[in-house]
Amino acid sequence: MALSIGVDVGGTKIAAGVVDEDGTVLATARRDSPATSREAIFTTIADVANELAAQYDVETIGVGAAGFTSSDRNTMVYGTNLDWTGARIADEIASRTGKKVVVENDANAAGWAEARFGGGKGAKNVLVVTLGTGVGGAVIIDGRLVRGAAGFAAEIGHINVVPDGRPCGCGQRGCLERYGSGTALGVNGWELAKFRPDYAARIIELSGGDQNKISGKAVTAAAREGDPAALECYARLGGALGLGLADLCAVLDPEVIVLTGGLTEAGDILLDPVRKSFNEHLTAHAHRPEIPVVISSSGQEAGLIGAADLARQD
Ligand code: BGC
Ligand code: NA
Ligand code: ZN
Repeated sequence: MALSIGVDVGGTKIAAGVVDEDGTVLATARRDSPATSREAIFTTIADVANELAAQYDVETIGVGAAGFTSSDRNTMVYGTNLDWTGARIADEIASRTGKKVVVENDANAAGWAEARFGGGKGAKNVLVVTLGTGVGGAVIIDGRLVRGAAGFAAEIGHINVVPDGRPCGCGQRGCLERYGSGTALGVNGWELAKFRPDYAARIIELSGGDQNKISGKAVTAAAREGDPAALECYARLGGALGLGLADLCAVLDPEVIVLTGGLTEAGDILLDPVRKSFNEHLTAHAHRPEIPVVISSSGQEAGLIGAADLARQD
């Protein structure tokens, strides 16, 4: 059975795994992300892959990375949050490992694993949405990952949900990512803390008392206690996400929408406002099969599993 290595390059961790054709992870290795330079990131990716390649007979390596990746699966054309715009990542890792390497968009990789082995298994038309620091997406139509002409399809974090809204790392304003990500949740909390400190008192308290250091995590902790200000932050987040998902469904008509990523740990606190807004905005709602919005049950390994699986395919 052909084995391949998948590497998930995150902002804080670089995680790699040896993955078989059934999506089973046979071994893993991880490193902290070096915050220093591109060069250091390449070296760390190669290092973690080489550690695994020394133990297993592997032909291919798939690297999942955030940003707009080229359709030939070599180059990070536009890294919106990490500083590696223009980097020929696949070449860089191939020269350090001696393996065939492809680079995939991180959300495409995680979404592919969800659709093949996880929450979308059995469905042929799936929309997968990753909710973390950013908002990512994967679109699977007729069982195939949609890459688009340039390789930039499914960049759903950058659809517009608020005309002329908050500025985004991509250069536009009002992107879904600025209203529907973990980062956005923190910004929602920060706004309330700044302008309505009494109302947001519990969020401020859970952020260590510093009005300027409101995190999404503190908002979630307060929401779990039923704090109205924190639930309002979630209502706004869910409102934006539901709107974005409904618009995407008008175009894609998926069987199921799978949500994944750190923010989904909030469970129903997230799902309830997302579903409410989604149902309000979905076109032909009464006339179409229900499109379930579910939270993925796969763990944090979907990104590396998908990158490995996609690397095996030409
Ligand atoms: C990037 C995507 C990425 C997503 C999740 C977005 O800001 O543009 O490429 O998939 O974040 O990491
Ligand atoms: Na994507
Ligand atoms: Zn954007």
